Amino acid sequence: MSAGAPEAGAPVAVGLRTRYCGTPRAGDAGAVVSICGWVAHRREHGEHLAFVDVRDHTGLIQCVIDGSQRLRAEWVVRVTGTVRLRPEGTVNADLATGDVELGECTVEVLNEAEPPPLDLDGHQDTDEAVRLRYRYIDLRSTRMQRNLRLRAAVNAAIRHVMERQGFTEVETPLLWTPTPEGAREFAIPSRLQHGAFYVLPQSPQIAKQLTMVGGLDRYYQIARCMRDEDLRADRQFEFTQLDVEASFVTEGDVRSFITEAILEATAAATGARPEPPATLTWAEAIERYGSDKPDLRFGMELVDCTAVFSRTAFNAFRQPAVVAIRVPLAGEFGRSRLDALTERARGLGAKGLVWMRVRQAGESLELDSPVARFLSGDERAELASTTAAAPGDLLLLVAGEKRASCAVLGQLRADLGRPPVAAGPYRFCWVVDFPLFEGRDEDGDLVAAHHPFTMPHPEDLHLLRSDPLAVRALSYDLVLNGWELGSGSIRIHRADIQSEVFDALGISREEADARFGFLLGAFGYGAPPHGGFAVGLDRLVAILAGEENIREVIAFPKTQSGTDLMTGAPRPLGQRQLAELGIRVVEPPRRG
Ligand code: AMO
Repeated sequence: MSAGAPEAGAPVAVGLRTRYCGTPRAGDAGAVVSICGWVAHRREHGEHLAFVDVRDHTGLIQCVIDGSQRLRAEWVVRVTGTVRLRPEGTVNADLATGDVELGECTVEVLNEAEPPPLDLDGHQDTDEAVRLRYRYIDLRSTRMQRNLRLRAAVNAAIRHVMERQGFTEVETPLLWTPTPEGAREFAIPSRLQHGAFYVLPQSPQIAKQLTMVGGLDRYYQIARCMRDEDLRADRQFEFTQLDVEASFVTEGDVRSFITEAILEATAAATGARPEPPATLTWAEAIERYGSDKPDLRFGMELVDCTAVFSRTAFNAFRQPAVVAIRVPLAGEFGRSRLDALTERARGLGAKGLVWMRVRQAGESLELDSPVARFLSGDERAELASTTAAAPGDLLLLVAGEKRASCAVLGQLRADLGRPPVAAGPYRFCWVVDFPLFEGRDEDGDLVAAHHPFTMPHPEDLHLLRSDPLAVRALSYDLVLNGWELGSGSIRIHRADIQSEVFDALGISREEADARFGFLLGAFGYGAPPHGGFAVGLDRLVAILAGEENIREVIAFPKTQSGTDLMTGAPRPLGQRQLAELGIRVVEPPRRG
């Protein structure tokens, strides 16, 4: 390839360079090229020569330079030299450019640099606080370059597929008003109206519904959302959604739009289109996996053993439900590990955890457990056959209310069986028919499982007053390998159903009018039936990149305590700015 021609994985080189560092190959031998980048390593070679690896985002190339040239790690250089084959025995098979080097080099130092505070080679072991403080250097690492480019490829594929499906991108405001979606919001004081606040949108939920009233028909946005929540591996204050809404559609239509988007995005990121999502009802997901975000990459499904113990003499199992999981090859767990599991189960709300180590005893199986002697021979045999126990397995059982017992075992299943994110494969799954309400708050009011604009399942409308917790919703989640990737619903577009749901949620007419009267008002002017969805893109990209924490796919993330170590945000404001905003800061109480 001649210097300056476009190359796979790199744009056409322009400006100060004629090639990117990672691109010269043996076929280029003899070409004079200019590359630009950062000095990655320097090795002295005798008195007069030095080898310098120069790096840009496409890779590294070895340059042979004059040993007297001042050049240190992370200096910014332009090197012009001749591509030549490396002498025999010095080829580096680990490097794409390992057959060649640049010889007869002229080096221009474009900028000197302080000694770098972090080691880009030993990146995996570098303290994350240092990486975040010097994120602009950290971004030069192969890992961050790969992750951010993967993210861009996913975004590009999503835009493409949404446009192809007839969606129009609409930007919605960042300075917004509180909405009842459940998360704590960030407030922004108004300078022009002291005492009044905007909030940053926790999602464009209401705005996108208003675009449906506005006849946009199919809306999408790669939307920044802000939520003042406790941060975790899969949560940041600021995150990005593929946000979608469409009119005159069924739940199936919405799911098929989203399925297409995520399969294409995955294909763009990985080169292969994954299996389409499985579909489970919420009830099935809880029953089989003890979770509404099941990881389908492994078995260890929950087994309902209630019938086995229907007439048991063992008090602890005389409960509405007895549920088990079979953990293969865990029969050798020692007491301390089993005690830790019991503690974990208690921490998750179980009264206790029964464990049984399955052993071969002659022709039959023996259940080695402190409670085995309280069970009849028939119960032990039936338990072994119901759970398909085999020698070497560990059985874990929880007795209590069905849903709570399933939830505890679902968590233990994940703790014990869940492969690392990077292990793949991608097992997408739709979880449908969520309940409309997830329970009651301390005032006895129902709590919306998704948000208050979610349409109850038409078959369950008659239960709204008599048995609201049994009402299913037209809402659905998308799950990938145990992570909740997104959720959505068909919305209520009729005022009568909306007021019934507000009543059930304990939201009075006045409160509803005060908080989102503009939405209810809009619905009085011809709201089409509509529904939508939002996919958490940080989570999708993290999984596709094989990362356990979404910070790794965000250019400038916050730490667990919500600090930006690079900028120091959040920071106090000066007195003048506070006065302009009409704000007086109440000093936090002094401790001690
Ligand atoms: P929901 O609140 O379920 O639904 O959010 C959708 C998806 O957004 C991602 N997500 C987050 N990612 C990173 N950090 C966070 N703090 C965070 N919070 C949420 C998750 C989640 O599944 N408006 C509705 C969607 C709709 O009904 O159309 C909504 O926002 O992947």
